[in-house]
Amino acid sequence: MTDSQVAVITGASSGIGRAVAEELSKRDYKLILTARNEGKLKKVADELKAVWIAGDLTNNEVQNKLLDVSYQKYQRCDILINNAGMIAGGTIEAIDLAQVTEMVRVNVEAAFRLIYLFLKDFKPKNRGHIINISSVMGTKVRETVGAYSGTKYALEALSEALRLELAGTKIKISCLEPGLVMTELHRNWEVHPQISMGITNPLQPADIAEKVWYILNQPEHVSIPRIMVLPQEHKI
Ligand SMILES: NC(=O)c1ccc[n+]([C@@H]2O[C@H](COP(=O)([O-])OP(=O)(O)OC[C@H]3O[C@@H](n4cnc5c(N)ncnc54)[C@H](OP(=O)(O)O)[C@@H]3O)[C@@H](O)[C@H]2O)c1
Repeated sequence: MTDSQVAVITGASSGIGRAVAEELSKRDYKLILTARNEGKLKKVADELKAVWIAGDLTNNEVQNKLLDVSYQKYQRCDILINNAGMIAGGTIEAIDLAQVTEMVRVNVEAAFRLIYLFLKDFKPKNRGHIINISSVMGTKVRETVGAYSGTKYALEALSEALRLELAGTKIKISCLEPGLVMTELHRNWEVHPQISMGITNPLQPADIAEKVWYILNQPEHVSIPRIMVLPQEHKI
């Protein structure tokens, strides 16, 4: 068994997930990375000497594999970073319903199922940390992002209920709520939010990765249930 802590990171092929993997790799964590795009994922994993599992996270087999592989390779698992996600934009009356379904399945259902699975491992050990990459949109709403906000509000509610259920144990749950971060998340948008919101200096993925490390690097008695991180000029 390795002495290093082992972290499973979803959505590690790009953006925030990739940056979190880089940050934790620097800190000597062993990593299990997952995403759909095998080429991009393998490149990140090779650079960081991490284990990778390519597949769609809405697939139950992929979800089950993450913990299994962590034990096969390292005989332990300490941290789950629920980061994989997508955004479907549009007014409530005109949004593409197929995209909304896909978004709910990855942002909410897959995250919930992973929490459910990992708790079965964390509870008997009385140890572990789950970090959900939520969003500032998990605490506020705006026109045309109501459906996305709904998925992040769901993640926040689930996390808060779980925090109450876990109080008194040594298992921690945290939500990280970024504002606009420069990643591929908005690649299909006609007008990038950076333009529509007039943000000249948005967050970078490394800003969020550093906060993940901050959350993890707390004494045992300190819990950080939620932390919001915004670009200074983000008027939201
Ligand atoms: N960027 C922002 O402004 C912002 C702000 C607040 C919160 N967030 C949240 O941050 C998280 C990461 O997003 P990001 O900004 O880093 O965007 P990103 O660069 O598009 O990364 C999203 C990641 O999720 C993976 N993914 C998406 N659908 C998946 C699926 N069905 N199965 C497996 N993996 C899937 C993608 O990999 P593949 O495509 O290879 O599967 C990718 O690795 C998301 O939860 C997002 O909601 C982002």
